[in-house]
Amino acid sequence: MNIPFLNFIVIILLLFFFTRFSCGADIITSSTNLSDGRTLVSSDGSFELGFFSPGSSAKSRYLGIWYKNIPVPTVVWVANRCDPINDTSGVLMINSTGNLVLLNQSSGSVVWASNSKKEAQNPVVQLLDSGNLLLQDRTPGKSDIILWQSFDHPTDTLLPGMKLGWDLRTGLNRQISAWKSPDDPCPGDLIYGVEPYNNPDAVIWKGSRRYYRTGPWNGIGMSGAPQLKPNPWFTFNLVSNEEEVYFIFYLKNKSAITRLIVNQTTSRGERYLWKEDTQTWIEYSHFPWDDCDTYGTCGAYGTCVNTALPPCQCLKGFKLKSQEEGSMDWFQGCVRNKPLDCHKGDGFIKFGGLKLPDTAHSWVNKSMNLNACRAKCLENCSCMAYTTLDIKETSGCAIWFYDLIDLKQVQSAGQDLYIRMAASDSDHTETKGKTNLMAGLIIAAAILVVTRVLVITYYIRRSHRNIQGRENGCSDERQIEDMEFPLFELDLISNATNNFSSNNKLGEGGFGPVYKGTLPDGKEIAVKRLSRSSGQGLVEFKNEVALIAKLQHRNFVKLLGCCIQGEEKMLIYEYMPNKSLDYFIFDHTRRSLLDWPKCFHIICGIAKGLVYLHEDSRLRIIHRDLKASNILLDSEMNPKISDFGMARAFGEQSEGNTKRVVGTYGYMAPEYAIDGNFSIKSDVFSFGILLLEIISGKKNKGFYHLNDNLNLIGHAWRLWKEGNASELIDSFVQESCTLSEVLRCIHIGLLCVQQYPEDRPSMSSVVLMLGGGTALAIPKEPGFLFGKKSLKTIPLSSKPESSSPNQLSYSVLEPR
Ligand SMILES: *[C@@H]1O[C@H](CO)[C@@H](O)[C@H](O)[C@H]1NC(C)=O
Ligand SMILES: *[C@@H]1O[C@H](CO)[C@@H](O)[C@H](O)[C@H]1NC(C)=O
Ligand SMILES: *[C@@H]1O[C@H](CO)[C@@H](O)[C@H](O)[C@H]1NC(C)=O
Ligand SMILES: *[C@@H]1O[C@H](CO)[C@@H](O)[C@H](O)[C@H]1NC(C)=O
Ligand SMILES: *[C@@H]1O[C@H](CO)[C@@H](O)[C@H](O)[C@H]1NC(C)=O
Ligand SMILES: *[C@@H]1O[C@H](CO)[C@@H](O)[C@H](O)[C@H]1NC(C)=O
Ligand SMILES: *[C@@H]1O[C@H](CO)[C@@H](O)[C@H](O)[C@H]1NC(C)=O
Ligand SMILES: *[C@@H]1O[C@H](CO)[C@@H](O)[C@H](O)[C@H]1NC(C)=O
Repeated sequence: MNIPFLNFIVIILLLFFFTRFSCGADIITSSTNLSDGRTLVSSDGSFELGFFSPGSSAKSRYLGIWYKNIPVPTVVWVANRCDPINDTSGVLMINSTGNLVLLNQSSGSVVWASNSKKEAQNPVVQLLDSGNLLLQDRTPGKSDIILWQSFDHPTDTLLPGMKLGWDLRTGLNRQISAWKSPDDPCPGDLIYGVEPYNNPDAVIWKGSRRYYRTGPWNGIGMSGAPQLKPNPWFTFNLVSNEEEVYFIFYLKNKSAITRLIVNQTTSRGERYLWKEDTQTWIEYSHFPWDDCDTYGTCGAYGTCVNTALPPCQCLKGFKLKSQEEGSMDWFQGCVRNKPLDCHKGDGFIKFGGLKLPDTAHSWVNKSMNLNACRAKCLENCSCMAYTTLDIKETSGCAIWFYDLIDLKQVQSAGQDLYIRMAASDSDHTETKGKTNLMAGLIIAAAILVVTRVLVITYYIRRSHRNIQGRENGCSDERQIEDMEFPLFELDLISNATNNFSSNNKLGEGGFGPVYKGTLPDGKEIAVKRLSRSSGQGLVEFKNEVALIAKLQHRNFVKLLGCCIQGEEKMLIYEYMPNKSLDYFIFDHTRRSLLDWPKCFHIICGIAKGLVYLHEDSRLRIIHRDLKASNILLDSEMNPKISDFGMARAFGEQSEGNTKRVVGTYGYMAPEYAIDGNFSIKSDVFSFGILLLEIISGKKNKGFYHLNDNLNLIGHAWRLWKEGNASELIDSFVQESCTLSEVLRCIHIGLLCVQQYPEDRPSMSSVVLMLGGGTALAIPKEPGFLFGKKSLKTIPLSSKPESSSPNQLSYSVLEPR
């Protein structure tokens, strides 16, 4: 009946719907604005622009863009990254000269502006379905001009279709930088961008330092990020031409929204997929991938093998540059065994499975083949390597000049690299690779069977490269590569120690708790779980530990291997059934188990171990925490020094001055405790204290003599001066000893604790003195004479008014 009327209603409804959808929607013009509380939504509802407060910072308001079509708030762009508005007075509008500006409405002050150069007749701001915020001039009759777009000024997120890198025509460089924290979108120190080299590379910087390279494009992916493979969700490419150099990716499949971010918390780039079926962000990949990815860790011509110990190795035909192997200065990298002679003619050796080196000094030609590439490289004496540019099409030529930096062994997806070598080194070895590896594996397996450690091979990850290196015989070099140092799996150690149960805990060392464990084959181990994180990277740590593991001496506790997984770092030692020296010497009953001959044997053992540490080993390690509880005892009461090299492995300097004083109250030499100056003579001081403790059965720390304020050293010194040194000797020792031998030891002890380091003997002279072979000097006054109660200078009876520097500051030592 009333048909026209019905029609009218329908039209109204449609209009209403239409208006609501488009008008609240995706544009701002010069006559409208966007105030806090309102938003702009892209036409298909994917993205939304508006004001938000990140994380727990409820008061700070930022203008940003986020996904509208997913329930987890995910911000992809922020305008005023470092300038939050403290209330809801913010408003986004186009000012009269066509700039997009964010204002504080109460003051009218500009908080953020697009700073577009051109003026616009008819400026329009639109949020696109791609997430790009566009400022255009839409003058009727002319084509639209883009004045500014958010895709050119990314924050921490790369969206599909967004370019990361350079527009070489305008000099625009698009980089993404991490938020400082989840509450603060201001840029932190992690930046990801593209280097527009001849052979472009994508790089993460940490501050001004290069931190990681994804490596150059090889036609399929980035040579240093093999986990980024062709996949059903997105395509990606590193585009390089005269006008632009950029990395980009596109969605293949809308059911997996993809974003790439840099994350300050995890120190890496992360790529997430939003899966429609799971309704969560799933991490698809991340980079850097492992410790070996840290830029240039192993120096020039050094290659990093993540599963090996040490991870840094010189390429075949190269040796460590720093002559002092003890320093293991990988920073300086490796040098050739045989120098090049460009004019007599060099050759090349093919190295497989590599992440290609830094391309800062490189050259490419997209149409040259590999032979022409080789010839091109030979022509120029600074050319050090070449390879195929595009491994998908096997075409093109990539060339490197000068030293090759940031090489890494990439297990699955590494590439070939032809490296320039002296003629006598090259070519004939070029094809050996694989067969030798096989031979190496077979030989290694045979050795394992023979030594009956086959049972435990399943938890030892071996480096194939190590074995290969040895079979090829890096003959004339120091054999850094032949180190077979086991890395234990966390699961195995966890099972061995009953999941680090407190029942298995043996004690707490300077660097963390120690647990007893039993391996499946019944072997008992002690596991030191390192608590503090070191200042150095994991690769440096592993290099260091592997080196220390090579120090073998019968008076050292043997390091069997280590376990490094995620944040966990553990050292695995042989188990010492008789605990430590302090367990015996300071306990009245157990004391009787150590008669003087045994004590003397222990003293000599410690001294010999220290001589090796200080003088004979390649590393020249200063122990720095020598004390009774660090002297472990095996089943036959042989002393074994533990924790040596720990300070070193933890990134401390090996000599000189340190800010962080490690060590133990009561054993520290004065120059170390007070000024942080340490040397091998500080260890000699600690040894002297140990000697006096063994003889007296008293701890230096906490020793009080009733009549004076002297500590053990002061007490010993006074008795010695008065000619009563024998009063120091513990009664049990006295029963079992030759008095002259003990008195000699007291004398040596006093020589060791002399105040000035230069007066103290070296450990090798101590060994000679213990053997009775030399006459003993007269000791000068020791350092640290006074006990805990004396915080002021209290004069010694013999020299009433002296105020020597040793009386400075016992209180300094109080804390530990
Ligand atoms: C924003 O728009 C509203 C309503 O259109 C207007 O009242 C307000 O004054 C505008 N704000 C600014 C800063 O122009
Ligand atoms: C806005 O401007 C007013 C006036 O200058 C000032 O008092 C206020 O702190 C500003 N607020 C913000 C969030 O910028
Ligand atoms: C917001 O408040 C913080 C701290 O109160 C202040 O440092 C900052 O300048 C304020 N920002 C603005 C835009 O007023
Ligand atoms: C518009 O904003 C830009 C950027 O802040 C500024 O340089 C320009 O002077 C403003 N124009 C006017 C008319 O205020
Ligand atoms: C997209 O992903 C969905 C879910 O995994 C799958 O079912 C679909 O076939 C994919 N579409 C294309 C075009 O690959
Ligand atoms: C960065 O990583 C941390 C820890 O995994 C995570 O909580 C945070 O959400 C990440 N940040 C972003 C922007 O995804
Ligand atoms: C690249 O190689 C091709 C083929 O060898 C050659 O014709 C061309 O000139 C080379 N381009 C450059 C820039 O050297
Ligand atoms: C070799 O290459 C380097 C680096 O590109 C260049 O500076 C040098 O001029 C070249 N030398 C010769 C002889 O072509």
